[in-house]
Amino acid sequence: MSRILVTGGTGYIGSHTVVELQNAGYTPVVVDNLSNSNVGVLDQIAKITGTRPEFHNFDLCDEGAVRAFVAGQPDITGIIHFAAYKAVGESVQQPLKYYHNNFFSLINLLNAYRDKPVNFVFSSSCTVYGQPDELPVTEAAPVKRAESPYGNTKQVAEEILSETAAAAGNYQVVSLRYFNPVGAHDTALIGELPLGVPQNLVPFITQSAIGKRGPITVFGNDYNTPDGSAVRDYIHVVDLAKAHVAAIKLLERGNPNGNYDVFNIGTGTGNSVLEVILAFEESTGVALNYRIGPRRTGDVEQVWGDVSKSTVELGWRAELGIADMMRSAWKWEQYLQDHPLT
Ligand code: NAD
Ligand code: WQD
Repeated sequence: MSRILVTGGTGYIGSHTVVELQNAGYTPVVVDNLSNSNVGVLDQIAKITGTRPEFHNFDLCDEGAVRAFVAGQPDITGIIHFAAYKAVGESVQQPLKYYHNNFFSLINLLNAYRDKPVNFVFSSSCTVYGQPDELPVTEAAPVKRAESPYGNTKQVAEEILSETAAAAGNYQVVSLRYFNPVGAHDTALIGELPLGVPQNLVPFITQSAIGKRGPITVFGNDYNTPDGSAVRDYIHVVDLAKAHVAAIKLLERGNPNGNYDVFNIGTGTGNSVLEVILAFEESTGVALNYRIGPRRTGDVEQVWGDVSKSTVELGWRAELGIADMMRSAWKWEQYLQDHPLT
């Protein structure tokens, strides 16, 4: 069956996608430099699927290493490119670190595949929409000025991909604009491994619940939303992983929309911060300690996606709800306490 290069395949979303690719009969080939992940993830994947994926440890910013890898892998038919830095706050402090890693890795890959037919799936983000004028936001909504260097890397990467696909006939590209990925695999063998104090809501909730962190701060309750807290479209990471399999299948069939396309990958529903906290408490039976704090700089008030294009054209839709997301995230946090990945 087809061999699919998964860059960043030991990371959070990449590892779940490797599992879903294997479940669908593909052979994922993982490239990662372990800059934000743990090599033990490969054995965890093997515990789930019975197969430890092929793994290559190198930095995609190393042009020679990318060329050598591609030359030695003539039978790869698709690429899912997760590898990137993703911490919004850090990107404001260290913009060059983000521009360097997120652009050089992408450009090296595109250059190495310049003369080969290839299907390319890119990890983009709903961050490209900023605060949309209309909700739910569709793929046709204008891209707003990025709030952070990280967000800018996603916007410019989408442009690089669309221009490259237009200029060279061999690339078929899909950018998936993820909303807020949360949760973990149902086996609790893989999940998110945040470095240091989590900046994202759900890992902070689970770490607070298990006693690794103090109370949760709700960043603002004076937004123009039903309960005053900010609203996001949370998407279960396993559903998100399956969207990548659907995207590879679409490109294998040939995308009737042409050689560059974008899809929203969310549930189509928004949940407020307070609703997420309540969903965690109700679905796990664990009470949370939280307080209301000021808004966080750079946060948008509310965003959720229109997913009708993905439903119709990608043939994919989210199946898991907020309770599944909370339960699986909690199971994973508990697993990690007893089995720290080393
Ligand atoms: P992650 O940090 O868990 O995974 C990224 C992986 O890429 C890591 O394993 C890291 O070691 C690897 N990597 C980074 N730079 C590399 C390089 N130069 N060479 C080789 N490997 C490298 O992140 P994630 O949450 O799984 O995100 C995956 C992708 O999805 C990223 O592109 C991210 O920007 C995008 N995305 C994430 C979210 C989110 O909230 N998690 C939302 C929207 C988009
Ligand atoms: C969710 C909501 C916070 C922590 C980020 C990136 C985005 C994309 C997904 C990559 C917000 C609130 C959070 C806390 C809180 N990533 N919150 N207390 O900011 O929507 O999106 O991840 O592409 O680009 O910006 O996700 O999980 O940080 O926050 O109240 O301790 O939870 O204000 O409303 P965000 P998040």
